[in-house]
Amino acid sequence: MTSEGGSGKPFVVLGVSAGIAAYKAIEVCRRLVDAGVHVAPVLTERATRFVGRATFDALASERVQIGLWDEASPIPHTRLGQSADLVVVAPATVDLLARYAGGFADDLLTTTLVATAAPVLVCPAMHTEMWEHPAVQENLDTLRRRGVTVIPPGDGRLAGGDVGTGRLADPSLIVATVLEMLGRGEAVGAGDLDGVRMVVSAGGTREPIDPVRFITNRSSGKQGHALAAAARRRGAEVVLVTSSALPAAQGVEVDRVETAADMEAAMLHRAEAADVVVMAAAVADFRPKEAGTSKMHKSDGVPDLVLEATPDILAELGRRRRPGQVLVGFAAETEQLSDRARAKLASKGVDLMVANDVSAPAVGFDHDTNEVTIFGADGSMFPVALRTKDAVADAILDRVSALLSPS
Ligand code: PMT
Repeated sequence: MTSEGGSGKPFVVLGVSAGIAAYKAIEVCRRLVDAGVHVAPVLTERATRFVGRATFDALASERVQIGLWDEASPIPHTRLGQSADLVVVAPATVDLLARYAGGFADDLLTTTLVATAAPVLVCPAMHTEMWEHPAVQENLDTLRRRGVTVIPPGDGRLAGGDVGTGRLADPSLIVATVLEMLGRGEAVGAGDLDGVRMVVSAGGTREPIDPVRFITNRSSGKQGHALAAAARRRGAEVVLVTSSALPAAQGVEVDRVETAADMEAAMLHRAEAADVVVMAAAVADFRPKEAGTSKMHKSDGVPDLVLEATPDILAELGRRRRPGQVLVGFAAETEQLSDRARAKLASKGVDLMVANDVSAPAVGFDHDTNEVTIFGADGSMFPVALRTKDAVADAILDRVSALLSPS
C-alpha cells in the first residue's frame, strides 16, 4: 500500500463530478480523513458550480485539483494515479461514467482514472430516467467487467422534488466500502475460521414446467457467493451449492444445482461433513407437480398448473444436524420481520436466523448491498446496517465465529 510521505496513511483520490449530490462528497471526505486516510480531492470543472473548492481545501489532506495545469508538476494525473491506493468517484454523473467507460482523458479526473492501476469505486447519482437509460447501464456493465466496483444509487427524493431511484448512496456506506476495499473494514477476521468446514447455499432454484419454462424467484446468488468468498478468505474450507451462474471465489469448491430437489440432495450430502451450514439460497416453496416432457404449445390452450410443496431443506438440516454443528438460515420478509424471523428460527431449529426486509430499498434480492438483523437461538439480536453484501457476509461470519469458539 502506498503511504503518503511515509505517514503510513492509505492514499485515496476522491473524484467529484457535477451533480447536485456533490455536497455529500464533503461528508465522505471528512469521514475518510477522520478514519486516517490521506484524501486528495479532484473536482471536475463543472463540479465547482455545485461545491466550492474552499470547503474541500479546508477538510481534505491536500489542496483540491481541478485542471491538468493546477500544480507545479506538469503531470499531476500520473502523480495521483500512481500514488493512489484507491480512487473513489462520488457522485459519478452520466457524463463522467460515459467518459470513463469510453477511455476518455479530457480532464484531470478522467486522466487520473485512466492513469491508475489502483482499485476504483464509482457511486452514481442522477435522475431515475437517466439511471434507467440503456447507455448508462451498458457503461456500468463495461466498468464492472473491468473490475470497477459500483455502489448503485438508492431510492428517495431527487433534485427538483422528484422521487425515485438515483440518490447518491449514503456517505456512511461509501466510507465503509472504501475502508473495506483498503482492508481497513471493521469486520476483518482473517484466519479466525482456519480449517472450519463450511457449506453455503446460494441462488434461487428453478422448478421446471416443461423443458423450456420454469418457476423461480429474484435471487441472484450474490449474498451466498459473498458468504462463501468471505469464509474462504477467513480460512474455512468452503463448498458452495449454487444455482447462480456467478463465478465463485478462488479456492471455493462448487456444486452447481438447479432445482430444490438437486439442492436438497447436495446440501444433505455436503452437510454430513460440515462444521457450519448456511442456507442463503432462496429455495422455491412450490413446484409443478408434474413437469411436461416436451414443450407445451399455445395452440393446446392454457395449461392447468398443479403445484406441490418442495422439501424444506433447512428444516431437514435442522433435524439431522450433528452436535456442535452450527446451522444458519435466512428469512426473506416484507413485513413483521422480527416476529417471522424468530418463528422460523424456532421451527427450523437453527442457531442463527439472518432476516432481511426484501421490500426495503437496496436490500435483498439482486442488490449489491443488504441490511440484515441476525437473530440468535439464545435470544440475541444483531442489527447490521445497510452495507455491501461482502461486509454483511463478514458480519454474519463474526457471529458464526463466536459460536464456534465461545469466549
Ligand atoms: O441471492 P441475492 O440476490 O443476493 O439475494 C439474497 C437473498 C434475499 C436471497 C438472501 O439474503 C435471503 O434472504 N435468502 C433466503 C431466501 C428465502 O428463501 O427465505 P425464506 O424466508 O423463504 O426461507 C427461510 C429459510 O428456509 C431460508 O434459509 C431458505 O434457504 C430455507 N428454505 C426455504 C424453503 C425451502 N423449501 N427450503 C429451505 O431450505
